[in-house]
Amino acid sequence: MVKQSEPPQARQQLVYELVSGLSGIALAIFMWGHMILVGSILTGERGFNWLAGTLEDLYIAQPTVIGVIALFLAHAVFASRKIPAQLRERRQLRDLAKGLGQSGKGWPNVAGAPAFSPHVESMLWIWQVRTGMVIVVLGSFHLVLMGLDVFTPLFGERIGIEAATTLERVRGGLWPLYAILLLCVEFHASVGLYRFAIKWGAGARLKRSVLHRIEQLLFWAILVFGVITLAVLAGWLEPPLAFLLGDNT
Ligand code: HEM
Repeated sequence: MVKQSEPPQARQQLVYELVSGLSGIALAIFMWGHMILVGSILTGERGFNWLAGTLEDLYIAQPTVIGVIALFLAHAVFASRKIPAQLRERRQLRDLAKGLGQSGKGWPNVAGAPAFSPHVESMLWIWQVRTGMVIVVLGSFHLVLMGLDVFTPLFGERIGIEAATTLERVRGGLWPLYAILLLCVEFHASVGLYRFAIKWGAGARLKRSVLHRIEQLLFWAILVFGVITLAVLAGWLEPPLAFLLGDNT
């Protein structure tokens, strides 16, 4: 077997790193836009239908769905090279996480001491891998569902996303799946961006504690917005912005 020389191997790893990093950033940006689009349900069914219908009529939704599926697959393939493949390795990861979690206990909260308890970075990486595994499964299901909804008349009265079918789906039993997906996606995206920024040198301009706070701000802001949206989709909360469109549906 011909052994690959070091420089091409290093270059190949750099390409993998760039593809997984850039596809991850594109997906994170899409996710924030997506949260705003799904969040249109906060104005009621009419606002949601108007936005979905406009994006479909202008042929923005259809290519976006295909593009996002391609990005999702590219990111899953290139980033999953870091997921431990063997069961034995996964057990080692679990034991490592347990050990690291314990070692962080009792870290003194002294002024001037580092903002991080020890091993936070390693714990973030471990949870990045775990949430990624959940997203591959639940995200694939969601993308197939959305592909069917946007391109076929399988759901609802017409081809395309409609508030009535979305509400029926979430209320009818998909809300736990979306709750888990939402938590995993928001964690994975905000920590992914933080780790990408550190990896590519943002730490030279901004302190790590500042980057960490930005990561937490993104995580909590979008998670809270997502939870309110999910509560409306699941029928636990009336659309709080319905008065904007005078929508009582
Ligand atoms: C292909 C493009 C996508 C479209 C058109 C789309 C559309 C939708 C729609 C209409 C909903 C409302 C629930 C439903 O109708 O079943 C929703 C919810 C959701 N989607 Fe997507 N989605 C897309 C991609 C993704 C991706 C890639 C992810 C993450 C892996 C994702 C994560 C979520 C989450 C977490 C929710 C629940 C949001 C909440 O309740 O706050 N979506 N999506």
